[in-house]
Amino acid sequence: MRKTDVLIIGSGIAALQLAAHLRTDINVKIITKSKLRMTNSYLAQGGIAAALSAKDHTSKHLTDTLEAGRNHNNIDTVRRILSDAPGLINEMFARGRVFDHDPQGNLLLGMEGAHSVPRIVRSGGDATGKYVSEYLIDNLPPNITVEEDIFVYELLVNTENNRCIGVKGKRKDNSTSLFHANHTILATGGCGQLYSYTSNAETACGDGIALAYRAGAELIDMEFIQFHPTLLYINGETKGLISEAVRGEGAILVTDERLPIMEGVHPSKDLAPRHIVSQTIYNYLKQGQRIYLDISTIKEFTSRFPTISANCAKNGIDLSLGKIPVAPGSHFLMGGVKTDITGRTNIERLYAIGETACTGLHGANRLASNSLLEGLYQGKKLAESLNMFSSKHELYESHEAHTTPSERPMELPNLEEIKASMMERVGIVRNSFLLHTQKNWLEQFKVDQINNLDTYSIEDITKIFMLINASCITDSAIARKESRGGHFRSDYPFEDDKKWLGRSIKQIKHIER
Ligand code: SIN
Repeated sequence: MRKTDVLIIGSGIAALQLAAHLRTDINVKIITKSKLRMTNSYLAQGGIAAALSAKDHTSKHLTDTLEAGRNHNNIDTVRRILSDAPGLINEMFARGRVFDHDPQGNLLLGMEGAHSVPRIVRSGGDATGKYVSEYLIDNLPPNITVEEDIFVYELLVNTENNRCIGVKGKRKDNSTSLFHANHTILATGGCGQLYSYTSNAETACGDGIALAYRAGAELIDMEFIQFHPTLLYINGETKGLISEAVRGEGAILVTDERLPIMEGVHPSKDLAPRHIVSQTIYNYLKQGQRIYLDISTIKEFTSRFPTISANCAKNGIDLSLGKIPVAPGSHFLMGGVKTDITGRTNIERLYAIGETACTGLHGANRLASNSLLEGLYQGKKLAESLNMFSSKHELYESHEAHTTPSERPMELPNLEEIKASMMERVGIVRNSFLLHTQKNWLEQFKVDQINNLDTYSIEDITKIFMLINASCITDSAIARKESRGGHFRSDYPFEDDKKWLGRSIKQIKHIER
């Protein structure tokens, strides 16, 4: 058995920022199911939003965040995170010069969809997540140990005091270990891999959300999935993100005949909120049309967007033709494990941060470049709060081994079936028929009835976790009989403020304690 003061599951930016800000006399372990750098954060192209310019103000950033979030946001959370944003950026820039800047050292601020002014800091043009992750990894203090290739499949919760005391993990050879901890943090990202079209890393399967749910933590807002409008789209498959920054620099969405598709749809045209742009592209694709990003007006595209250019070249796109084929795909989960602003859940000493958590910052649809910001904010604030515990006087609580007999693994669908069914029935456009069809399909696997995962393989547990996320999303989407932000229902196509403004759908599993 291993013991640690602070156990962090996942290694994205929220996790690394937390580790970087914990006291150095605290014993900290990061466990990741894959490799340290195999995270969604690492893939993030667009940057981090903060009201940094003389033309900007936190109140403008707040207005844009609420408008994109369709007023489903927690205003207090929004205010507190956005007010701290300039300080977080300046602190990191002062220490590491991490962000793109001019020769005088002034930060270069970019534009993205639904922002009223340029306020996005970036690194390496279009590789912000990679640069910020590398900076944080380089600066990890020596009290942090990292263990890769450990798949956490169960949270250990003391039934007497509703306190999380660690986790169970599996290695690739299926051997299991207990990791006891005084504080356990879920920082496993979102669940973009539930959909066949996604910008997300292959690790983003909703593990933290399923772990929390199975342990009795409350989930909230699971119906709100953001579909990013522009993923590179080739032969019916998506091949990675084309950052919104490309539209921020002037690219427009066009048909085969180069007709602009966002004209007349929204006053901000191609820089409208993501759900509007995604739904518009989706409607064209459904009619069998192809949609492109026309990049012909962007000078020096390849030096401005090196990561995107390399990906296009790898996939056989000739950028000199001035257009990139695109389709929308799942990008971000606005909902998740319900937490306060620092990451506390309803289970004592269990925390969730980053995309795994739902603090209410993003509302019904996240404003571009507010997610790395949330990860940096929560990582730092949770560290400040955990730093107040004295590691010297903490006792590790022990754990009684499970007595429930192992169950025989049941028949599970394959990954492609899960992804295709979610894309088709719980995707960009939903309705009662599609949602109930998916609910019936999901129910046959009875994943809610599985108590003991000890004998299941990592591959099967991954599917079980994905099915749990899928059920929570589907059930929330059925319950929310309106359209708002990332949740669009063709049978309830409008926002219904009277019935739904300020109302959230929560999910909690009843646990016999
Ligand atoms: C992008 O680069 O378009 C993604 C940025 C984000 O999702 O915040």
